[in-house]
Amino acid sequence: MSIEVTGLTKTFQAPGGDVHALNDINFSVKTGQFISIIGKSGSGKSTLLSQLGALDQPTKGEIVVDGQDITRLSGSAQTAYRSKKIGFVFQQYNLIPNLTAAENVMLALEFGGVPSQQRHDEALKLLASVGIDEDQAQRRPGKLSGGQQQRISIARALANRPSFILADEPTGNLDTETGKTIFKLLHDLSRSHDTTIIVVTHDLEIAGKTDHTYQLKDGKLINYKK
Ligand SMILES: Nc1ncnc2c1ncn2[C@@H]1O[C@H](COP(=O)(O)OP(=O)(O)O)[C@@H](O)[C@H]1O
Ligand SMILES: [Mg+2]
Repeated sequence: MSIEVTGLTKTFQAPGGDVHALNDINFSVKTGQFISIIGKSGSGKSTLLSQLGALDQPTKGEIVVDGQDITRLSGSAQTAYRSKKIGFVFQQYNLIPNLTAAENVMLALEFGGVPSQQRHDEALKLLASVGIDEDQAQRRPGKLSGGQQQRISIARALANRPSFILADEPTGNLDTETGKTIFKLLHDLSRSHDTTIIVVTHDLEIAGKTDHTYQLKDGKLINYKK
């Protein structure tokens, strides 16, 4: 999936005055590219991912995904875009605590319209692909390590075979070694499935291994120079 962002601007109205979270952002990503975005806290990274994932409506600008401007889609078309094309991965995993790992993935498969009798096998297959075995698949998130929980959230993000993965500080809660394996997992996905990935990270070592790194600074996107 290719992405072409033009003049993307997001201004929040806050009690203390307008916050210019994104200020005339322009960039493009080719199908299968793995892009990282770095920037200080409050520089607009999560806001940018929200606009790309149609979780929020920009103030101005275009986000053309495979030839279609997603900012102009109807509400239901945006929902379909989110659920069918995009996999979200967050720092906090966002797993449902009273469901097992397998059930968390099965729920995503249900939203994606996979028939009920296929969901369990499909969930186990997805979990195996990220290194979660059948025993771990039957456990609830609270009985698994942070790295294992992030693997499950990646399996869940993959449930609907997204062509585009948006990851917001996916290794932020993990130790360096586990962060590296999670990152490698994402990297392998972009290579083996031609999945386009945009990852927000604080970790410069991780960012340095992606195809290209951008830096957000006061709502402006610039090429990051090492
Ligand atoms: N819903 C909102 N209302 C008002 N201001 C917001 C809102 N969301 C984010 N902001 C502001 O926009 C700026 C960018 O935030 P954010 O994208 O979360 O930064 P980052 O993810 O890089 O830490 C910050 O100044 C933040 O306070
Ligand atoms: Mg953020």
